[in-house]
Amino acid sequence: MKTIGVLTSGGDAPGMNAAIRAVVRTAIYNGIKVMGIQQGYNGLINGNIKEMDLSSVGDIIHRGGTILRTARCEEFKTEEGRQKALTVLKVFGIEGLVVIGGDGSFQGAQKLSHAGIKTIGIPGTIDNDLAYTDYTIGFDTALNTVLDSVSKIRDTSASHGRANIIEVMGRHCGDIALYSGLAGGAESIIVPEEDFDIDSICKKLIQGKNRGKLHSIIMLAEGIGNAFELGKEIEEKTGIETRVTILGHVQRGGSPTAFDRILASRMGARAVELLIEGKSGRAIGIRNNKLVDMDIDEALEMEKKFDKDIYELTKILSI
Ligand code: ADP
Ligand code: F6P
Repeated sequence: MKTIGVLTSGGDAPGMNAAIRAVVRTAIYNGIKVMGIQQGYNGLINGNIKEMDLSSVGDIIHRGGTILRTARCEEFKTEEGRQKALTVLKVFGIEGLVVIGGDGSFQGAQKLSHAGIKTIGIPGTIDNDLAYTDYTIGFDTALNTVLDSVSKIRDTSASHGRANIIEVMGRHCGDIALYSGLAGGAESIIVPEEDFDIDSICKKLIQGKNRGKLHSIIMLAEGIGNAFELGKEIEEKTGIETRVTILGHVQRGGSPTAFDRILASRMGARAVELLIEGKSGRAIGIRNNKLVDMDIDEALEMEKKFDKDIYELTKILSI
């Protein structure tokens, strides 16, 4: 393999830069030329591609976002769009491709692999919604960002004796809400994987208030109703003043944690090793702190398991 490409796709995630750095440096170390493809599959279709060298990835390991930029590209979902991408790959002599992104990006990667381009997927998304890997790059940083906000909101919440609903991201996955809820000592956690009952949430808030609790935190995963309406309902039912904070895109930025930098560095290097071994259509993951790789189709077919034990633990610890 003489030339490989690397791109980031879908929602950005802190740690993507560390992964790009690892891909570029591992490839160059092994005598392979690396082309940086800008703005995900958009750049692939439009030939927005530049060779990268050792210093193209200098001073980025600690930076959030992605120096290659990212995009959601509808055209790539079409046969015609992918044909354009295949032509561009040929023109640039790119024989192998590392795609850093989430499940949508992986589906695109698998299609390229079936079309004969050696392709490896690295899981980069704050959502942690890929079943085949314990962690995706960016999740740990997002979790820490959320926790920082939870602590701050607790301060003001306790001063005023209020309840606070904190809405977090996660697309269809409740992991950010669940784990930040556990680590942040939330009273209630509302996630897409579990039904919730507003009356028992209210009962808990009242019980907490009666035993002298000054604040209550309710972690809410995005997409489950309207946070403001929920807040109003809670306030009406409990008489406890309730405020709502939607954390939004703050969760996607910031310097990656040590965990995400290490994960990204290991996965980036492994992606290049797999390409050197002639592998294609593989998704890299981590299980029990060991890097694994598996067929992308199989990885995408796996159903994400919600950690019910952790969910139950949060209930016990917040009585
Ligand atoms: P993520 O990778 O974070 O899940 P998206 O689901 O938005 O983000 O997917 C990112 C991009 O991957 C899409 O904009 C599109 O270019 C490509 N993609 C998604 N699904 C497919 C698909 N079924 N076939 C080909 N490309 C896809
Ligand atoms: O997939 C990452 C993510 O941040 C999700 O948690 C969220 O639902 C979505 O992307 C937001 O997308 P956008 O940046 O396009 O608003």
